[in-house]
This record gives sequence, C-alpha cells and structure tokens, in this order.
Amino acid sequence: MYFELSEEQLMIRQAARDFAQAELKPGVIERDEQQKFPAEQVKMMGELGFLGMMTSPQYGGSGMDAISYVLVMEELSKVDASASVVVSVNNSLVCYGLEKYGTEAQKQKYLVPLAKGEVIGAFCLSEPEAGSDATAQATTAVDMGDHYLLNGTKNWITNGGTASTYLVMAQTNAGKRHHGINAIIVEKGMPGFTVGAKENKLGIRGSDTHSLHFNDVKVPKENRIGEDGFGFKFAMNVLEGGRIGIAAQALGIASGAYELALNYARERKAFGKTLADLQAIQFKLADMATEIEASRLLCLKAAWLKDNDLPYAQASSMAKLYASQTAMKTTVEAVQIHGGYGFVKEYHVERLMRDAKITQIYEGTSEIQRIVISREVLK
Ligand code: CAA
Repeated sequence: MYFELSEEQLMIRQAARDFAQAELKPGVIERDEQQKFPAEQVKMMGELGFLGMMTSPQYGGSGMDAISYVLVMEELSKVDASASVVVSVNNSLVCYGLEKYGTEAQKQKYLVPLAKGEVIGAFCLSEPEAGSDATAQATTAVDMGDHYLLNGTKNWITNGGTASTYLVMAQTNAGKRHHGINAIIVEKGMPGFTVGAKENKLGIRGSDTHSLHFNDVKVPKENRIGEDGFGFKFAMNVLEGGRIGIAAQALGIASGAYELALNYARERKAFGKTLADLQAIQFKLADMATEIEASRLLCLKAAWLKDNDLPYAQASSMAKLYASQTAMKTTVEAVQIHGGYGFVKEYHVERLMRDAKITQIYEGTSEIQRIVISREVLK
C-alpha cells in the first residue's frame, strides 16, 4: 500500500489551492448573501481544466485521474462550495456520463464544449414527486418516431439556469417501470423548455438551483443516451461517481472549517491562555482532525477504485455518508470554537455550516447511501 501522491497530483492540488485563495475567497460572503452565481470564477475554472478534469484530451478534457479530482474538490470546497458543486456536476454527472455512454456524434457536439468549460451542464433526475425514489419518474418522453416529445417538471436542478446542456431522465414506457426510462440530451433554447424561479436556499446559495419545465419539447432521437430504456441504469451509474465528488466537497467543507477553527484557537485569548491551551478545545480539534482524515481516506479509496476499474458503488456511498456527517459535525464545532464570532458572516464558519447540510441531501440522502451500502454488505 502506497499513500504518496504523485508530482502531478501535488501540482494540481496546489493549483486548486492557489485558485481558491486568489479567486474564490474574495467575494464569497457577498455571493452567498446575494445568491450570486460565481460566473467569472466558473469561466476561470474552465480555463484551468477543472470542468473536464477526467475527460480524455481527445474530447477536450484534462485526462486526469479521480484522485486528482478529489484533491481539487477538497481545495475548492474549503473556500466556496457553491463553486465546487459546478465542478462536481459537470465532471461526474455530465462529462463522465457522456464520455462513457454517449455516441461519437454526441461527444463531438456536447462533450467537447462541456469538457473545455465553454459551457456547463446539468443532470436532471429529481422531480417534485421523485427525489429519493428516483424510479418514480413522471416526466414523459413519448416516442414519436424520429423524436421524443418531452413533458414534465424537474426540481432542484444544479446549474439549472446557467447550463446549456441538460441530461434529462424521462419515462418512455411506464409499463416497464424503471426499464422504460430514457436519458436524453436537451439543449437550452429548445422550444417548450423553460427555466423556473431560482431557489432561495439555506446553503450553497451562490449555486444556481432551479426547477425546469418541459412542455411538448421535441428532442431528436439521436439525443438519447444508450439503448432504449437505459436511462435509469445510466443515472445510477453516473451517480456512483458523483457521490465521490460530493464526498470530496463535504471533506473540503469540513477541512476548511477545521483550519479556520485551528487558527482561531491559536490566536484567541481567554482565561489568560489561548483557546488552543484549553483541553476542551484540544479534544474538539483532535476529533475534527481524526474524522477529516478518515473522510479523506474514504474519498481517496473510492477514487482509487474508480481509477483502477474496480467496483466502487459501496466505497463512494461510504465516503459520501461519512464525509457529509463529518462536514456537519465539524462545521458545528467550528462555529462553537469561534463563539459569538462564529455566528457572524465575516468569520466564514457559519456559511460552511449551512453549506455542509446539502452534502447529506443531494446525490442521494444519507439514508440512500445506507441503502446502497447495506445492500452491498448483505449481498
Ligand atoms: N449502476 C447501474 N445500475 C444500477 C445501479 C448502479 N449503481 N444501482 C441500481 N442499478 C439498477 C439495478 O440493477 C436495477 O436494475 P434491474 O431492475 O435491471 O435489476 C435497477 O437499477 C433498479 O435498482 P433498485 O432495485 O436497487 O432500485 P430501488 O428503487 O430499490 O433503489 C436507489 C435505487 C438506490 C434508492 C436509487 O433510487 C437512488 O439512488 N435514489 C437516490 C437518487 C439520487 O441520488 N438522486 C440525486 C439527484 S442528482 C443530484 O442531486 C445532482 C445535484 O444536483 C448535485
């Protein structure tokens, strides 16, 4: 067993760390308050190759491994989880799905600009009545011969307003239940496709979350991904990798809050000492450091399995379950260590605490991760 990162992995981690400090940190409080999408920063991340990190250079990507992706996600998320979720969705759910299952024509037309970061993508599975129970798709894609007629509503769609390319899951043959679901590529601007109001959220407020409405949208047949009825398996498969990205996001939120708490504890004086001299604070820091390290190892193990073409469904769900719990617990403790200062925006930890919560909800709640893990262990 070998725990060293390669030169290339260390370099990409440093690049992400530098970018996060120089470009994400300034303005992160204002973007959170104003629910402002980090458009400029996303453009820069595209130029740095962060939006198509694991896509092969043949299709405009950076051709890096999933380990590097975890390292970048951690660094970005330490500072701005609203920006890092764009990286996660674009890489894991959109680019990966298109590269693995798309036709050559779909890759040339859609994947190349997505991987280059010229446009961004969205993954559209959730519906008003289909969140955890993703098989209950009410959106329909009726087969009309040379095209599908798409009708329905999608909910909570990350990048909903800013994306250009949408991977939409829809039911074509309800009699076949999840075997009747298709994944189809929808372009912004297709007649009948409208974007609903932006959600006013507790956390990741800079990210662009919308409902989407499809009203008799004509989508060419060649935009279906995979065979007829492959859509549910497509969604489940890409979510396995997506959960590594969100686990790394949770890891970053936790480690960002921990670093702030550690620095604060070293500087803040109370009872004639620094906070770091008090055992009550030392024990909190010890727990935080231990749980963060365990989360990091789970994320890297899942990424390593993926990089080596080994099964990773259980590992990615374990990483997401544990890292998101750690993010929640660590950020609450970081606020506590900061005392009253932790409760005001200038100290960043209250935002990290609000951002942490979504990591226990999206790309499958903690309960869904437990379903995936328990099914694997009981096999
Ligand atoms: N890869 C490929 N196929 C898979 C799979 C995987 N990882 N997991 C399941 N499947 C297949 C099964 O083999 C099965 O196929 P067959 O019927 O042919 O045997 C089929 O899918 C149905 O599987 P299950 O019987 O396990 O289905 P289920 O309904 O009992 O449970 C679930 C599935 C795990 C609960 C699933 O519905 C799920 O993951 N739900 C959560 C949905 C989710 O994560 N949503 C996230 C939205 S996207 C998002 O959040 C993005 C964002 O904005 C950041």
